[in-house]
Amino acid sequence: MSVALVTGSAGLIGSEAARHFAKLGLQVVGIDNDMRKYFFGEDGSTAWSLVRLTSELGDAYTHYDVDIRDREMLQKIFERYGSDISLVIHTAAQPSHDWAAKEPFTDFDVNAVGTVNMLEFTRQHCPEAAFIFTSTNKVYGDTPNRLPLVEQETRWEIDPSHPFADGITEEMSIDGSLHSIFGVSKVAADVAVQEYGRYFGMKTACFRGGTLTGPAHSAAELHGFLAYLMRCVMEGRTYNLYGYKGKMVRDAIHSHDVLTAFEAFFRAPRSGEVYNLGGGRFSNCSHIEAFAIAQEITGHEAQINYVEQARIGDHQWYISDMGRFSRHYPDWRMTYDVPAILREIYEANVGKWTHQ
Ligand SMILES: NC(=O)c1ccc[n+]([C@@H]2O[C@H](COP(=O)([O-])OP(=O)(O)OC[C@H]3O[C@@H](n4cnc5c(N)ncnc54)[C@H](O)[C@@H]3O)[C@@H](O)[C@H]2O)c1
Repeated sequence: MSVALVTGSAGLIGSEAARHFAKLGLQVVGIDNDMRKYFFGEDGSTAWSLVRLTSELGDAYTHYDVDIRDREMLQKIFERYGSDISLVIHTAAQPSHDWAAKEPFTDFDVNAVGTVNMLEFTRQHCPEAAFIFTSTNKVYGDTPNRLPLVEQETRWEIDPSHPFADGITEEMSIDGSLHSIFGVSKVAADVAVQEYGRYFGMKTACFRGGTLTGPAHSAAELHGFLAYLMRCVMEGRTYNLYGYKGKMVRDAIHSHDVLTAFEAFFRAPRSGEVYNLGGGRFSNCSHIEAFAIAQEITGHEAQINYVEQARIGDHQWYISDMGRFSRHYPDWRMTYDVPAILREIYEANVGKWTHQ
């Protein structure tokens, strides 16, 4: 038996990971305590996603309503499956900048200590397993905001002569910048994942995500930008747009493309790797460009409340360079761009998110 252990298995990436690896014939063991509801309220709950997952996957999926901070319970799960675990995908996290500042202890315990819990139990019980960690581009703090940017009609863009014109590489320093409390807990986790690769020789990788998205996102104001933006346009809700004239640029990658990247790593794992993971030049948009696409898809006008003050540490322009991953895994391809992602979010939620 080959087991994929997925934390955050009811979340956007976790639930897609469970489906993806079940389809490949792995037995999937999921850990998720719906802490997202505690973070973001009812809108953010992933309970609906868990119901869907368990009914879709049946016997191929076993769920544990366990907190990744609870070492005693984690140990029992690892003891139960032991070296049958060939893959760990660790996505459970507190994922928001703004929320982290409300409860720094909780944020650090979940993101940093929770990750060390997962790493250490993997080392003790299934050291040969590939360990994939969903890190974030927020580990670079606000360093991307020091890039030379030029204002265009609908977006900020990098000076085309800059070495990062094709996207930001893993060479960018994670040091000496403003991270937000969330960024700090993710840096701690990211460095721990690298260290378990380097120090213990485990097959670990940090995937530093840009905007990871897809129809399985429980769109909430503080996390899940494209899905939440689409939800607001579909429901006629007001979207609070913070700073930079709404021209800040994000690269967005669909959960399907994230999972094919994870599969490539699983099939040929390496040690202590770090990869930027985003839509890159193929799939990116500014907020106001995203509104224009959402308006075209839905036929509704977006209700936008513009707030001059940008969010602390928010990136003004971020596009990932996926070159390193593509060099290591040359067969991997990205398939979704921003319009395709928004259309799919629309189609998946059209009966659920109705215009008021
Ligand atoms: N979505 C993005 O745009 C994005 C970008 C960069 C990085 N990431 C990272 O990718 C990962 C997955 O993101 P996502 O969008 O799928 O997140 P998500 O919030 O949709 O899913 C995370 C899941 O983890 C669960 N969880 C949280 N704390 C837990 C705990 N203590 N114990 C057990 N379960 C817990 C939540 O209930 C939720 O279902 C996160 O680590 C996030 O930081 C996401």
